[in-house]
Amino acid sequence: MHTPHPPKTIGMIWAQARQGVIGARGTVPWNVPEDLAHFELITMGHPVIMGRRTWDSLPESSRPLPGRTNIVLTRNDGWHADGAIVAHSLDEALDALDANEDEEDNEDEQDNNDEVWIIGGAQIFSEAVGRANLAVVTEIDHNYNGQAYAPGLGSEWAKISSVPPTGWDASVNGLGYRILTYRKG
Ligand SMILES: NC(=O)c1ccc[n+]([C@@H]2O[C@H](COP(=O)([O-])OP(=O)(O)OC[C@H]3O[C@@H](n4cnc5c(N)ncnc54)[C@H](OP(=O)(O)O)[C@@H]3O)[C@@H](O)[C@H]2O)c1
Repeated sequence: MHTPHPPKTIGMIWAQARQGVIGARGTVPWNVPEDLAHFELITMGHPVIMGRRTWDSLPESSRPLPGRTNIVLTRNDGWHADGAIVAHSLDEALDALDANEDEEDNEDEQDNNDEVWIIGGAQIFSEAVGRANLAVVTEIDHNYNGQAYAPGLGSEWAKISSVPPTGWDASVNGLGYRILTYRKG
């Protein structure tokens, strides 16, 4: 019998500018290569869940994100894309991982399904914030206009680390950035 086995870690990872902006006109309005490397490091080897618009925002050459099971949320029953597992709700996405794990031989499993990363965008974060237990947030020290915003993290979330501990690191492109990690409960 199939017993549901939700991931132990449901993480969210995003980069936000001042005022919580994460996106503008369907894309991310800054380029911080150090943050992209950090995103790869954190998510590699784990499933990633994203909204259909975020999938669309990825350059064709970099999707599906390699080394990770890519799950895309859409309400459109007819939508499909090469390399993406389609789900029609967050619960269905998490169940799909569970089923995927049942099918795989754990010896040579590509993904560690005990840890899953929600990678945006704004719609998916706002739905996932109630389910997630970890948030890794890159703050960019700059103002951008945008339409997509990070979810609010309420008092149930505690900041557990800041890199650097004070102030900002400098990106090669001159922008200040820092990486904050929050845990729920
Ligand atoms: N800075 C960052 O870290 C970061 C990360 C990711 C994305 N972004 C940016 O965020 C923006 C995109 O965010 P967004 O909020 O517009 O879009 P999104 O969250 O990426 O995707 C929204 C789409 O997901 C589907 N969806 C949403 N809720 C669903 C549900 N409950 N069940 C099934 N499907 C559901 C719908 O697809 P259908 O319309 O197909 O039904 C909806 O149109 C872009 O600018 C992107 O560049 C930034």
